[in-house]
Amino acid sequence: MASVVASIPDTIAPFLSSPKQLLINGSWCVAQSGKTFEVVNPATASVIAHAAEGDAADIDLAVRAARDAFESGPWSRMSPSERGQLIWKIGDLIEQHNDELAQIETIDNGKPFSVAQVADVPLSADMFRYMAGWTTKIEGNTIPITVPYAPGAEFHAFTLREPVGVVGQIIPWNFPLLMAAWKLAPALACGCTVVLKVAEQTPLSAIRLGELIQEAGIPEGVVNIVTGFGETAGAALAAHPDVDKVAFTGSTEVGKLIVQAAGTNLKKVSLELGGKSPNVIFKDADLDTAIPGAASAIFFNHGQCCCAGSRLFVEQEVFDEVAAGIAEEAGKIVVGDGFHEQTSMGPLVSQEQFDRVTQYLDLGRSAGANAVCGGDTPDSPGYFVNPTVLTNTSDTMEVVQEEIFGPVVAAMPFDTAEELVARANDSVYGLAAGVWTNDAGKAHRIAKEMRAGTVWINCYNIFDAALPFGGYKQSGWGREMGHEVLNNYLETKSVCLGL
Ligand code: NAI
Ligand code: MG
Repeated sequence: MASVVASIPDTIAPFLSSPKQLLINGSWCVAQSGKTFEVVNPATASVIAHAAEGDAADIDLAVRAARDAFESGPWSRMSPSERGQLIWKIGDLIEQHNDELAQIETIDNGKPFSVAQVADVPLSADMFRYMAGWTTKIEGNTIPITVPYAPGAEFHAFTLREPVGVVGQIIPWNFPLLMAAWKLAPALACGCTVVLKVAEQTPLSAIRLGELIQEAGIPEGVVNIVTGFGETAGAALAAHPDVDKVAFTGSTEVGKLIVQAAGTNLKKVSLELGGKSPNVIFKDADLDTAIPGAASAIFFNHGQCCCAGSRLFVEQEVFDEVAAGIAEEAGKIVVGDGFHEQTSMGPLVSQEQFDRVTQYLDLGRSAGANAVCGGDTPDSPGYFVNPTVLTNTSDTMEVVQEEIFGPVVAAMPFDTAEELVARANDSVYGLAAGVWTNDAGKAHRIAKEMRAGTVWINCYNIFDAALPFGGYKQSGWGREMGHEVLNNYLETKSVCLGL
């Protein structure tokens, strides 16, 4: 199968040819070292831009700017309502630049333009608007207290919720704009200032977002954006002694490094890490919905989702029908350049991810797994991998235990619900799970038993700014979105007044 090719829209040429710099203290600047790195279009493996390669020196400047803005800038003195209006404006500007941002996402990440246009960009706008509403609703409590060693004394005790301070945020490349929105919007709503380190594979949409954030009128130094590599810029941010909190999304492996680095000053940490999410189809499910649903659970974003439904458990009686059905769905997927209107699956993000995923395909094959469809790559210079359904897999195989982060699902039969729950929970991860059944009681029982931060019943990959998302076990600490995310960016202060 050859991948579909397309040309880059002229409309993003001016953005692509403009300098890609760091946003520090309200100004765009080159890296202190003067270095840049190549930005690659994964559909063609060609260089489309060069971005400033920020490292520890630039992180230090950015942290200083964020500290100044936090301690003495207008941001800290702004009323919650004013802050909310500025954050809302970022959402408006994202909406106004929907197609441009979607094009940037497509050329940088590879995802189909038609997907970025209706998912990534609108979800990002929504995130800012949802969080804008929270600025005026962050409240403490008044607490009646009884102090045993002060009989008869009276107190007025209450809590204040205050911004945690300077926040370092490190994000991955699978949803570049949306991950920036998930991180920035709640931190801003809470009144924090931020240094955002974006993924080296996909720096472009965050740069455009930085421009829109300036246009919205967010004061200088409140949002600083550093492009650069994880081992240098990312590590420096996680270890920086003047950062109060670090929020990370990425691999579980690097999540553990973040925790170690944060130990230098015991900064607060939240983590959104990997997954190997079970997706379960019972024989009483509506298979006409469950089959395309399970296909989309793994193939959406080319399998590059931390919550991808990558372990598919199917009740024995319908296993063959479901496996064949998902292979049929895979056959309908048009793999190609994200700018081609027929494309429904673009390339993986990088050569590194292409190598990683194809190595897993080899591992699966040598362990005895059978590719019902896919298992190969189209003949193309881009990083394309064909959608793949593996059968004849066992629970202990690497392709079943480890996060592949590509369009590869391992389908396995099960006999009883009890057996199923134990196998589904047999993972170091606990990010998400799916259940497909027409038996409401069974659906709710299984949902309770899944050790996962999100359970989707008769649906999958449903996201909303109001719905918390995050992991059990090694899938992370804390939650993104909803009011729960505010806990990541707030401190609680108890104030006690003797009457
Ligand atoms: P990664 O975890 O290395 O990268 C994510 C972010 O962390 C990037 O911004 C990167 O520059 C930064 N980073 C890397 N090393 C760092 C360090 N030592 N200190 C501070 N920051 C650091 O993920 P990578 O290498 O891009 O992908 C590897 C695997 O990770 C994927 O195959 C996938 O399994 C998983 N992954 C999971 C994601 C998720 O959404 N949970 C997102 C991206 C990758
Ligand atoms: Mg890495």
